Amino acid sequence: MGCLHCIGKPRKRLGSDYYSNSPKHTNKKINNVSEDKNKVRVELNGRANGNKREVNSNDDKNQLSLDVKKLKLREDDGNTSNVNKAMTFTFDELAAATGNFRPDCFLGEGGFGKVYKGHLDRINQVVAIKQLDPHGLQGTREFVIEVLTLSMVDHPNLVKSIGYCAEGDQRLLVYEYMPLGSLENHLHDLPPGKRPISWNTRMKIAAGAAKGLEYLHDKMKPPVIYRDLKCSNILLDEKYHAKLSDFGLAKVVPSGDKSHVSTRVMGTYGYCAPDYAMTGQLTFKSDIYSFGVVLLELITGRKVIDHRRPEKEENLVAWVCQCSFN
Ligand SMILES: Nc1ncnc2c1ncn2[C@@H]1O[C@H](COP(=O)(O)OP(=O)(O)OP(=O)(O)O)[C@@H](O)[C@H]1O
Ligand SMILES: [Mg+2]
Repeated sequence: MGCLHCIGKPRKRLGSDYYSNSPKHTNKKINNVSEDKNKVRVELNGRANGNKREVNSNDDKNQLSLDVKKLKLREDDGNTSNVNKAMTFTFDELAAATGNFRPDCFLGEGGFGKVYKGHLDRINQVVAIKQLDPHGLQGTREFVIEVLTLSMVDHPNLVKSIGYCAEGDQRLLVYEYMPLGSLENHLHDLPPGKRPISWNTRMKIAAGAAKGLEYLHDKMKPPVIYRDLKCSNILLDEKYHAKLSDFGLAKVVPSGDKSHVSTRVMGTYGYCAPDYAMTGQLTFKSDIYSFGVVLLELITGRKVIDHRRPEKEENLVAWVCQCSFN
């Protein structure tokens, strides 16, 4: 299998030594860079027709609208009214919404850029704006997939996409604002005095995430494998209602009864199913594995990978397996 690396971080190989060899930083994206990162179009349309036309930044705008038209995702009832509902924004509009990306509007940062809170005057709504790091390795690909997937899905347990900006080199995504941030913020490294979330709330969050996943797997036609289920991608509204976010790695399964999709390995250390990491064969069960890891985090309150713990307890799944066999 290919060489895997954490975006923007040193490379690391995944294989049969998956558990013992995870990198010394947690929750980082992995991806097999041996494939051309510009094969966006081939993957989106679910066919390996050898059409590897390069997508450079000048092509992206056209590519976006082309792919939106070609992708034939629809819900069970065949309703295609959601297609193309994403709004486009100018960079100036988004800069104004965030006070020119003021530090006090900063919400957090992931592998693909910074997230800011803002107010969009045009729609009079508080939003979260994710500005993709122009130097990120997977920015363009994930940006396109994110816009496409989110403009096709509509479910109370999936974060709502409002629109995007693809102006010059700038790539920004606009989402509904989720006031309580991510589940990760409520489970780990709590500030002094902050009470851990209750057992009932934990179960409510797990059920919400499961419903979002069920929608992607069972209601979407063709179905979608999410590929990036983890605590930081479960966002919470003011009542701890959970919504899945970040669809940049989502994979459309061309034919429903296919047992797997062969693809490059992408995901996050600790959450990525070992069989997928080792073979590159992605299945719906890969998401279920990641869901199981989130459940373990919810139940134990431990991080998926925690290098502050004794060596045998660093990897949550390995630790739980050990406990149950002893
Ligand atoms: N729609 C949103 N509403 C409120 N806060 C958000 C929203 N989206 C993201 N955030 C905040 O921004 C942080 C960073 O999100 P982001 O998805 O960029 O990174 P991540 O999930 O930590 O890592 P990765 O890049 O691997 O997905 C989240 O942890 C959350 O606190
Ligand atoms: Mg995320």
